[in-house]
Amino acid sequence: MNLRVWLLLLGAVAIMSFAAMVLVVVPAALLTEVKPSPGLEPYTASEASGRGVYIREGCMYCHSQQVRDTTITTDEARGWGRPSVPGDYVYDAPHQLGTMRTGPDLMNVGARLPDRRWQLLHLYQPRAVVPWSIMPSFPYLFEVKAQAGPDDEVVTVPPAWAPESGVVVAGPEAVALVDYLLSLDHTQPLAPTEATPRAR
Ligand code: HEC
Repeated sequence: MNLRVWLLLLGAVAIMSFAAMVLVVVPAALLTEVKPSPGLEPYTASEASGRGVYIREGCMYCHSQQVRDTTITTDEARGWGRPSVPGDYVYDAPHQLGTMRTGPDLMNVGARLPDRRWQLLHLYQPRAVVPWSIMPSFPYLFEVKAQAGPDDEVVTVPPAWAPESGVVVAGPEAVALVDYLLSLDHTQPLAPTEATPRAR
């Protein structure tokens, strides 16, 4: 091979190595030092399994989990919580940042809507609580039983949406999913050093 080909190859390798350093190696090294945000606990077994349901059902395609900075958006003014920081995601692999906001951001939905019964009914039939909602219903996460057992979480469904007979009880996946949703609370204030540079 002549010199020009060698130079071309060398240039290509140099560019690829530089890109790998800047885009992969350096960010990975920086992220190893990230500490959990104040008050953030690892997921319980049920919350973690609910997170699996969240991923499987594709909630991320309509809901983000990232409150963007106040200097560039109105996220905080909408009541979605303080701007998110890397420490909010230490227990999330893969994270559910999302790109679409067909529905509201869910980063702090557990703090905003802490009522289990509301969450269960909303998953069973969103239009039973928000008449204009375009969110899909998830009735297959629930069971219709003739009579509720002692450990069952009964969902009080308004007559318009209730089955003809029997009671609606939350299935194990609905229970886990609501446990996960209620765990989404990143509202604890940050120490000044942890806030994003823009927010300071
Ligand atoms: C096709 C888009 C779409 C999908 C998929 C979707 N949602 Fe929604 N979601 C919405 C819309 C629109 C709203 C606002 C209206 C309402 O409250 O129903 C909403 C509202 C919500 C709210 C209330 C948030 C608030 O601040 O009022 C929760 C909680 C929620 N969704 C959870 C979920 C979960 C969990 C899943 C997956 C199992 C899911 N969503 C899937 C569109 C969607």
